[in-house]
Amino acid sequence: MSADGQIMDSSSRTLEKLENENNKNGSVKQVLLDGCVPFSHQVAGHKCGINNTGVLQHPDGTILKQLQAPPRGPREMNFYTQVFAKDCTDKRLLDLQQHLPKFYGTWMPRESPHELYLKLEDVTRRFLRPCIMDVKIGRRSYDPFASKEKREEQISKYPLMEEIGFLLLGMRVYQINSDSYITHDQFYGRSLGKDTLKYGLSRFFHNGQELQRHAVSLIISKIRSILRWFEIQTELHFYASSLLLVYEGSPHTINKSKHKPADPATEHQQGEPQSKALSFQSSLTHSRPYCHDIQHERNTNGKHGGSIEEQDEEIGMGDKKQFGQEETVEVKMIDFAHVFPSDSPDESYMYGLRNLLSTLEQILKD
Ligand SMILES: Nc1ncnc2c1ncn2[C@@H]1O[C@H](COP(=O)(O)OP(=O)(O)O)[C@@H](O)[C@H]1O
Ligand SMILES: [Mg+2]
Repeated sequence: MSADGQIMDSSSRTLEKLENENNKNGSVKQVLLDGCVPFSHQVAGHKCGINNTGVLQHPDGTILKQLQAPPRGPREMNFYTQVFAKDCTDKRLLDLQQHLPKFYGTWMPRESPHELYLKLEDVTRRFLRPCIMDVKIGRRSYDPFASKEKREEQISKYPLMEEIGFLLLGMRVYQINSDSYITHDQFYGRSLGKDTLKYGLSRFFHNGQELQRHAVSLIISKIRSILRWFEIQTELHFYASSLLLVYEGSPHTINKSKHKPADPATEHQQGEPQSKALSFQSSLTHSRPYCHDIQHERNTNGKHGGSIEEQDEEIGMGDKKQFGQEETVEVKMIDFAHVFPSDSPDESYMYGLRNLLSTLEQILKD
């Protein structure tokens, strides 16, 4: 993976306890403990986990996020545990479940039982060519208990956060002509000001030929649904939390069924993670060249697959069926290391959602 910043620095590190396996493209695939591999669709965040490889992909298609140091890791684990508790009767939390990746409990590698991971639904799993963006939401990236140094550090990273209410942390966008991905890291998002924000955001929806207007509208309606949840809840405040936006970059439609993966939900009785591959019609619009801070990831590197058929063989693709248009996008809330109980609406998060929505609406109007 050729992203940089937080997710770039360790991708080439030598991995201990590593087995190498030649994959179908003849390139080397890293197999870590218990058959886990580095998750190739991570667009932002820490590079922790086994040997600092970041988020891992389990052979059953779920992803594993290592618990961060206390209090952040345990706080995130407690949050997921609370929201997905079997005996949960809190309607607000039950409603929230649909906006989060499914939580399958915790996981420990057999060889390193001291390491603890959150086992989560892979939000990108049903997509053939997932275009992915991580957007941090809220006017403040620090929680009420942050030290002065931490607050200053967070503010200096993006002084416009207070005014804009969201920050693009990273993205990867499938380019149809070259069958490759363009990636943007956290510095791309930080470089966007009020005058360039709309254009910067619109890059996520551009496949090299045209703007995927359909994906913009579908993502708008998913974000509106999350906003409706926030408008009626007063129990929780989310700081430095993100929305993970995903849409299908592949123009192909597949309607077949094979390689149903092991279902991690069976053990935990949390419902089966869905596995679908889809496509949608895209609409025509302008195309402007962009040449700052981009990296091309070719599909020949063995990580993101070669042909669609080859990717189809990968872990976690599962059943492929044709579904409705709304299934060609996904929006989930992620990253809950700074979620706190409260007794008032989360105005900061809602401000960010509303501004993100209005910027997306502006993109559609152009
Ligand atoms: N459930 C998920 N499905 C797919 N990708 C995910 C999921 N959770 C996290 N990721 C990927 O991993 C990255 C980092 O995750 P995050 O929870 O934000 O970790 P951190 O605490 O290090 O910021 C995200 O930007 C996204 O690319
Ligand atoms: Mg994050």
